[in-house]
Amino acid sequence: MQTLLAILTAATGLADGPTAPTFWMPQGASTVAPDVDIVFDVINWICYFFFALIVVAMVAFVWKYRIREREHRFRMDGPTHHAALEATYIIVPLLLSGVIFFFGFRGYLDLATPPANSYDINVTAKKWQWAFTYPNGAVASGAVEGLVVPAGRPVRVVLRADDVLHSFFIPEFRVKRDCVPGRVGAIWFQCDYPTGMDPAKAYNLFCAEYCGTDHSKMLAKVYVLEQAEFDEWLAKQANWIEEIPDAELFTAAGPRLYAQCSQCHSLDGTAGQGPSWQGIFDRIRAGTGKFTNGQSYADLIGPGKVYETPEDYIRDSILNPGKYVVQTFGNVMPTFKGQMSERKIEAVTGMMKHLDQFDAKGKLKAAAK
Ligand code: CUA
Repeated sequence: MQTLLAILTAATGLADGPTAPTFWMPQGASTVAPDVDIVFDVINWICYFFFALIVVAMVAFVWKYRIREREHRFRMDGPTHHAALEATYIIVPLLLSGVIFFFGFRGYLDLATPPANSYDINVTAKKWQWAFTYPNGAVASGAVEGLVVPAGRPVRVVLRADDVLHSFFIPEFRVKRDCVPGRVGAIWFQCDYPTGMDPAKAYNLFCAEYCGTDHSKMLAKVYVLEQAEFDEWLAKQANWIEEIPDAELFTAAGPRLYAQCSQCHSLDGTAGQGPSWQGIFDRIRAGTGKFTNGQSYADLIGPGKVYETPEDYIRDSILNPGKYVVQTFGNVMPTFKGQMSERKIEAVTGMMKHLDQFDAKGKLKAAAK
């Protein structure tokens, strides 16, 4: 019934919202979702049918041909050949797999061929977050803004990976594609059902390839906006950091930017993938911290040294995190080159310096406002 409904809906284009979730599938919110679901449902029902047929036949034969008299154990005079039966079990699966191949391959070609009027968004996967770059230069982070796309037009995502294999997966859109280091891939989708900036309605982007410790945290919300609303968001996103007055730079922009640091850097001293920001400037001033190459903070930071100032060291750690890695931590931080402008780095550095004004989650304390 579900299948029949899906076929009718797809054929008549009557859908006025995402398809309802089923036992197997989340809601289907892209233009390809109904086609994907039909192929899935057909294969699924073929499996149910043959599972039942095989199990029933097996149990029946086990019963019918059970050993009743010992001397029959080595009976050798059974049938060796049955042409009609053999033809049946060759022709029926051949036809079925032919049909499945036809619809599967048609769907695959469809997904592999973006329409000419697609809107391009660059996606970079890195341990362990998503970064999005738009044609106007706006950047967004999966952990902060999420993936924001226009409704009612094809969107082509161009996929890159900075470090290891990741996989771009939006179950509600039925699209999934690996992000391979050193290669540029792409996949497209079109969603006609706007969600606004409402996290409860938004769709979900997952990383679907195990990529290390925090793979399970490599998530983002997918917001679908009406074209006009999208254009407005895009213009704002390109220069939100510029619009914040200098006096409020770290109090206003710091917490928003910290969201993309929070899974690795705590503010309360808790150990994470990277050093906690708590007391970070005290440690730098004391000069006692050590890097994995054996050098200490005092060896590298100070007038005439590699880094003139603590701020310079922080800046370079954001842009070139692998250059000097603090002892006992792994070289796991991705670079934020191209994503963190000088002003954003200034905001984050300001927040690090004034952590007493923020709570352990990075929210500005009421008294500091
Ligand atoms: Cu990235 Cu799993």
